[in-house]
Amino acid sequence: MKVLVSVASRHGSTEEIATALAAAMRHHGAQVDVSAPEQVDEVDVYDVVVLGSAVYRSRWLRSAREFAERHASALRGRDVYLFSSGPVATGGRQVNTSYDACAVAERTGACEHRTFPGKLDPAVLGTGERMVVKMVGAPSGDFRDWDAIGAWGARIVARTEAGERDLDGVGSTSSRRGMHR
Ligand SMILES: Cc1cc2nc3c(=O)[nH]c(=O)nc-3n(C[C@H](O)[C@H](O)[C@H](O)COP(=O)(O)O)c2cc1C
Repeated sequence: MKVLVSVASRHGSTEEIATALAAAMRHHGAQVDVSAPEQVDEVDVYDVVVLGSAVYRSRWLRSAREFAERHASALRGRDVYLFSSGPVATGGRQVNTSYDACAVAERTGACEHRTFPGKLDPAVLGTGERMVVKMVGAPSGDFRDWDAIGAWGARIVARTEAGERDLDGVGSTSSRRGMHR
């Protein structure tokens, strides 16, 4: 099974999620390439494509959105898994329902969209970013859940091997919003 993991990251924490995801999938027997969205010329050689993006001000980063547009028709013919990395403290509430992720899911016919908590390190932020973070009162820290990330990678491999395309039985466009979690 050939897998592409491609993610858009501004400060590197989503890239590290991609690395962990790829390691988990390799551990379960997949052959995995990790490439930045703007460096991918074609996706036809892959059985599975995992596309992720950090979320900034409720939006996916441009390179991930453009990747989905550029490869939309090829992606529709393969197993596509999406993830957003962003919320730094959910407090049990849903904080990230990026409409970009919903749009990309529709466009690519993705099997699933997951949201993983991210990381906020004020030391690497620009002045404008620090102001936004202060304004919304977002807490600093590394909230990434490595176990959940690894388990998701393992599950994608297992599902693909079993030939199960639609996780949770979601196949229709209208029901796809239900898979966002
Ligand atoms: C200026 C700014 C705006 C952000 N906006 C959101 C947001 O709207 N929703 C969200 O879930 N996370 C938001 N975050 C959190 C980031 O998505 C999180 O820090 C993520 O892990 C960053 O990934 P990266 O290091 O790959 O760029 C924001 C962070 C910053 C600094």
